[in-house]
Amino acid sequence: MAFTHQTVLLGEVVRLFSPGADRVIVDGTLGGGGHSEALLEAGFRVVGIDRDPVALAAASARLARFGEKFRAVKGEFAGVQTLVPGPVDGLVLDLGVSSPQLDTPERGFSFQTDGPLDMRMGDTGETAAELIARMPEGQLADLIYLYGEERASRSIARTLKARLPKTTSEAVEAVKSGVPRKAWPKELHVATRTFQALRIAVNGELDQLEAALAAIPGLLAPGGVAAIISFHSLEDRLVKQSFKRLCGEIDDLPPGFPIANARAAQFETLSKRPIVASDDEVAQNPRARSAKLRAVRKLSGVTS
Ligand SMILES: C[S@@+](CC[C@H](N)C(=O)[O-])C[C@H]1O[C@@H](n2cnc3c(N)ncnc32)[C@H](O)[C@@H]1O
Repeated sequence: MAFTHQTVLLGEVVRLFSPGADRVIVDGTLGGGGHSEALLEAGFRVVGIDRDPVALAAASARLARFGEKFRAVKGEFAGVQTLVPGPVDGLVLDLGVSSPQLDTPERGFSFQTDGPLDMRMGDTGETAAELIARMPEGQLADLIYLYGEERASRSIARTLKARLPKTTSEAVEAVKSGVPRKAWPKELHVATRTFQALRIAVNGELDQLEAALAAIPGLLAPGGVAAIISFHSLEDRLVKQSFKRLCGEIDDLPPGFPIANARAAQFETLSKRPIVASDDEVAQNPRARSAKLRAVRKLSGVTS
């Protein structure tokens, strides 16, 4: 099967990086290799990381023509500093799942097709079905509430625990029976939020993002740029807060703390407001509608 993922905010991402001989960019979410390909075409060297062996194989084939300028690494971007000892000139993260992951029923991400209730982006760890079976009902409800922002989390957790679904269809039926028909959302499938929550939990998505954000100061060389595309508010909030802190914009010091000891800005923002897709791009790729790109640059003279 062809590995086709329509890359979002392609030009917007590439323009954030200043070209220069032998500059190295880490693409922490290689996927189909769309961002990597455009960066290689612009003259950068790229190290592409993905936890999904299927994505790695497809992107490696697509990018083979760039020879030793491109290197693929299997792993999780939380460990970016171990996988790619820096310093490097850039980091790109295009968060979430790729279209081939979502559209392959056997991967178990979609509530629209039937398949095993898996949801793992990589090939290790616990599946969504195993997570539901293991987790106490209260904890499952909290997870659906926090990661899915789902108000009916308690009754959905109850029906999931009662039925222990093994397939996506069984999970959809369990969610439906946990939400009274008149409370089903109008613009969304009733299982959207629960599936989002399970996916985030199975893949440790917010922990992965927090670890990558924490690694940025040590990973980037002075002048290096970090660019992150997020697709939902939980991710975007983490990116926004972390970037503000790097730019010295969050006053999180205790009252009375001597201002001379305040952490000086190590970075400058390249996106006062999040960069979003043009109307044209959204018309061609509806997935781009919720994409938010934020970027920061490490100031020259800052060493770690
Ligand atoms: C939205 S796709 C990236 C698409 C890519 N930018 C392109 O243009 O083709 C996200 C990719 O990141 C991978 N991924 C998500 N979280 C990851 C993590 N924590 N570590 C490594 N790879 C991850 C997924 O497996 C998926 O292939």
